[in-house]
Amino acid sequence: MKLTAVLTALAAAASGYTILDAENFSTATMEGYWLVKYYSPTCPWSRRFAPTWEKVYKDLEDRLVENNVYFGEVDCKANRAVCDRAKIDGYPTVVFYNQGVNNGEVPGGQSYEALAEFAKSI
Ligand SMILES: *[C@@H]1O[C@H](CO)[C@@H](O)[C@H](O)[C@H]1NC(C)=O
Repeated sequence: MKLTAVLTALAAAASGYTILDAENFSTATMEGYWLVKYYSPTCPWSRRFAPTWEKVYKDLEDRLVENNVYFGEVDCKANRAVCDRAKIDGYPTVVFYNQGVNNGEVPGGQSYEALAEFAKSI
């Protein structure tokens, strides 16, 4: 029963990427490796990037789950304080977090190739 609950929780955490907000950002990103996309729903570049972001996740999902790599995303319009704290000055921006520590922006992280290479190297 207990094990089932744990496994269910893990499966939920591991499936797809996670929406992060001001309430749960810090707790959620404390464990494991996170690639966090900061975006604005009204920014055309963010909208253009969305399918790329999803495709990288889907193409690498098994490997990411195996390596404790999570994809999270923050809507900067709704969660300005979270984005200010990460010093986000343009959208979309992908930042790498290692056990809750901001390791900076993923270089070229808006392109499929650069993001996929980076995610595979974690
Ligand atoms: C954080 O909160 C949002 C609702 O604002 C929710 O959709 C999301 O699943 C939560 N993320 C985690 C990791 O709990």
